Amino acid sequence: MTDQTITSFSREHRVFRPSAEFKAQANLGSETTYKRLYSESVNSPEKFWGREAKARLVWRRAFTKVLQWKLPHAKWFQGGQLNAAENCIDRHLLTARANKAAIIFEGEPGDIRTITYRQLHQQVCQFANALTALGLGKGDRAAIYMPMVPEAAVAMLACARLGVIHTVIFGGFSSEAIKERVNDCQARVVITADGGWRRGKIVELKANVDRALQSGAPTVERVIVLKRTGQEVPMEAGRDRWWHEVVAGQPIEHRAKAFDSEHPLFILYTSGSTGKPKGVLHTTGGYLLGTAMTCHYVFDLKDEDVYFCTADVGWITGHSYVVYGPLACGATVMMYEGAPNHPEPDRFWQIIDRHAVTVFYTAPTAIRSFMRSGDDYVKRHSLKSLRLLGSVGEPINPEAWMWYHTMIGKKKCPIVDTWWQTETGAIMVTPLPGITPTKPGSCGRPFFGVVPKVLDEEGKEVPRGGGGKLFLAQPWPSMLRTLWGDDERFKQAYWSELPGYYFAGDGARFDADGYLWVVGRIDDVLNVSGHRIGTAEVESALVSHPSVAEAAVVGRPDELKGQALVCFVTVKNSVTESAELKDQLRAHVAREIGALARPDEVRFAAGLPKTRSGKIMRRILKELAAGGIVKGDTTTLEDFSVVAALQSEE
Ligand code: WTA
Repeated sequence: MTDQTITSFSREHRVFRPSAEFKAQANLGSETTYKRLYSESVNSPEKFWGREAKARLVWRRAFTKVLQWKLPHAKWFQGGQLNAAENCIDRHLLTARANKAAIIFEGEPGDIRTITYRQLHQQVCQFANALTALGLGKGDRAAIYMPMVPEAAVAMLACARLGVIHTVIFGGFSSEAIKERVNDCQARVVITADGGWRRGKIVELKANVDRALQSGAPTVERVIVLKRTGQEVPMEAGRDRWWHEVVAGQPIEHRAKAFDSEHPLFILYTSGSTGKPKGVLHTTGGYLLGTAMTCHYVFDLKDEDVYFCTADVGWITGHSYVVYGPLACGATVMMYEGAPNHPEPDRFWQIIDRHAVTVFYTAPTAIRSFMRSGDDYVKRHSLKSLRLLGSVGEPINPEAWMWYHTMIGKKKCPIVDTWWQTETGAIMVTPLPGITPTKPGSCGRPFFGVVPKVLDEEGKEVPRGGGGKLFLAQPWPSMLRTLWGDDERFKQAYWSELPGYYFAGDGARFDADGYLWVVGRIDDVLNVSGHRIGTAEVESALVSHPSVAEAAVVGRPDELKGQALVCFVTVKNSVTESAELKDQLRAHVAREIGALARPDEVRFAAGLPKTRSGKIMRRILKELAAGGIVKGDTTTLEDFSVVAALQSEE
C-alpha cells in the first residue's frame, strides 16, 4: 500500500547500544526514567506538560490552564504570557552564557563570524526597533527570504520579539512561489538580501523578490535588503531600504512585550495534495516548549556543545533546530551558508574540525551523496570532536546509516533518526541517545506525550510487523494549530482520515520491539532529497505551460534522492513532442516553483490512464515510472491501450 521510497533496504539486524561513557553523561541516561516520564506524559499530560512548561520557559504571566482540547483545535498554556525572543536570548544574559557564542557562522566564501548571546541580543533589539519604526507590530506578517546567514535568525527573532508573524520562504524557491506565499498571508514587509552564495555563484534573492512583487503583491509596503553578496541591485525608492540603513542609529536595547501563549509565532508553507501550499501555523508557548525539550533530550545539548544542524532556515528543521530550540537551550549553533560540496565534497567535515562541532544533524540524501563521493574526502579530517549524530527528513536506508555510523561517527556516536513534520513542530519519534538501542533504518520510539498508531483502512490497529497508515492519537504542545486562513482544509487534511486522530500522511509499521519504521509518504506528496513536493503543485506548473494539455506527476524510487520526480505529459494537438520541449518543461517547472522541483524525467503520453469516472490512476503511472511493467489490477481502466502504449515505449 505504501510507496517504498528506498530501493536498497538491506537486512541489517544489528542493534547498536550507547556506550557506558555516553550514557553516564546523557541528559537522560536511565530507561526507568524514560518509562516513568513517558507514562506520565501520556496518562497525565496536563500534569507533565504543565511542569515542563514552567521549568523550561520564562513566563511573564503564569498560565492557568495547561490544555484546552476541542478536537481538532488545541490551546496550550492559556492565560500564560511570554516572549519567544526573550526565551531564546534575554534569559541567557543573566547567566554565564551572556558572552558565550550563540552562533558561529561560516559563509560559503570562507568568512567566519562568531556572535555571542549578548551581541545577538543587541542585533535583534536593533532590528526590532527598526521594524517598529517602519510601523510593524503585533499580528502583522513579515516574509523572510534570505540566505543562511545570522541575519536570517536575527530577522526571525526580531519578528518574534514584536509579535510579528514571520513566514520564512526557502531561498531556493522561485518568484512565483514568493508571490503566492506573500499574498496568502498578506505580508506587509519582505526581508531579503541582495543575494546568497551557493556553489561559488550568487543566488539573486533581491531580483526574485522584485519579480514577485512586480507581478502583483499589493500588501507589501516595504522590502528590507541585507547586503551580503555586494553586486548592484536596483532599489525602488519609497519601498526598498537597506538593512544597514534601517538599523543605523537604532538603540541596541528593546523592551520585549509579552504575548499570549497562543499568539501566532510563524506560518510556514509546505506542500499538500492540492496545488496550493498549506500555511502551517505555529504558536508561541507550545512550540517553544516542544523544540527546547527535544533539543535537551534528543540532542543531549550541554553548554560545551557546538551543535550543527545543516538544514536551511527556510524549512521547519531550520526553524526548530537551528533557531528556536537550540537558542532556547542556550546552545552554540553552527550555521553554514552554502553548498555541502563547495569547493569540494568535504566542506561539512572541514567545518566540523575547524569549529570542533560535537553534535551534527543532517538528512539522509546528504549522507548518501557523501557516500557516493568516496571515503577519501572524510579521511582527510579527524572528526574527533563529534559525540552525537542525527538524521531527519526522509527514511534512512541501513547502508547509509551504517556508513554514517562508521565513517562519520567512528562507531562511537549514537545516531538519532528523528521522525517529525512541519506540522508537528518538533521531533515526535526518535531514539534517546543515552538509552535507546538503535536499529539502522528505524526511528525508534515515541518522544514524551506522543502516541503513534499504525492503523489499517478501517481504523483498526495493525498488529506489530504489519504496515499501515501512521496516525497520532493525542494532542501535543508543538502541534500546528490550523492552516493560515483555511481551517476547513486543516480539518480535512489532517483530521478527516480517521476522526479523532491526526493523520500524518506517512506509511509505517511497528516491529516486534515497538520500534517505528516509517516507509514514506502515502499521499500525493513526494519526498525528493528530504524536501516535500506536492505532485499537484508540479502538475499545475506543467499545465500552465502553453504546450501542455494534461499532466500527471509521480515519484520513482531513487538511490540518492529517495524519490525522483517523473512527469507524464500529454501535449496539445498542435504541439510536436520533442527532446527540446522536455527540457523546456523541466526548466518551466523550476521557474514556477524552484530548482528543487525540477523534474528528473518528462515522458510524453498520448493519453493518461484513467478510470471510467475520469480519475488518473497514479498507481499505474508509479509502476510505469519505477519499472516499466504494470503488474496490478487494470480492470477499472477506461482504456488499456493508453497503458500499452506507455509500456511499449520502455
Ligand atoms: C518524512 C521534516 C522517515 C516523512 C522534519 C514526513 C521522515 C515528512 C523522517 C515531513 C524520518 C521526516 N524517517 N521519514 N526520520 N523525518 N520524514 O514537513 O515522510 O519537511 O511526513 O518535515 O518527511 O517533512 P517536513
